[in-house]
Amino acid sequence: MKRLWKCGVVLGVGFIIASVGLWAIGEEKEEAKEKPERRPDVIFVPTPQDVVEKMLELAEVTKDDVVYDLGCGDGRIVVTAAKKYGCKAIGIDIDPQRIKESKERVKKYKVEELVTIKEGDIFKEDLTPASVVTLYLLPSLNVKLIPQLQKLKPGSRIVSHSFDMEGVKPEKKIEYQAKDGITHTIYLWRAPIQLEKEKEKGEK
Ligand SMILES: C[S@@+](CC[C@H](N)C(=O)[O-])C[C@H]1O[C@@H](n2cnc3c(N)ncnc32)[C@H](O)[C@@H]1O
Repeated sequence: MKRLWKCGVVLGVGFIIASVGLWAIGEEKEEAKEKPERRPDVIFVPTPQDVVEKMLELAEVTKDDVVYDLGCGDGRIVVTAAKKYGCKAIGIDIDPQRIKESKERVKKYKVEELVTIKEGDIFKEDLTPASVVTLYLLPSLNVKLIPQLQKLKPGSRIVSHSFDMEGVKPEKKIEYQAKDGITHTIYLWRAPIQLEKEKEKGEK
């Protein structure tokens, strides 16, 4: 009887240890899901709301557009596009934390039917469904996107907060005095975009 009792205690303790172990593994997996698949190419810095609105205005967004924000951060650009113009919008970000924030914003502003938030690497994305692409990345990343942006449908617009795209002349470059007291530069390009050196060759 004593032996049986001892056996029960050993089994019980074993069960508790195993459960705690499994719970710890589960927690670790949850944590791992919060980490990006690789390091983001640029950290999250949000575009001020009034600059977002200026970018969409410069791109002449309408309800028929499909707006892609590459590196969507907290989702403010795609949510504003859907809310203000009633258009479809897709936000892509590599950081699960940003995806979480974007999805919360989509829910908060009730634009679930218009906005899709996608976790992924912008350099692996097919951008051809977009008619408007918004960027707030880095000059080198804008240049790296050129091959994908060259595939956009004619008439599609690309707007970039702060950063130029070396080698491709913008249609417009505006200086916007924002509410934060800072002057923000916004660039606009229209598809088909062409590298300046290719354009020069063609003109010769
Ligand atoms: C400067 S923030 C801009 C956020 C937002 N577009 C805005 O203007 O408020 C850049 C965002 O790009 C994301 N990012 C960086 N590299 C990326 C990549 N390769 N693919 C997808 N997202 C990326 C970052 O996680 C970050 O949220």
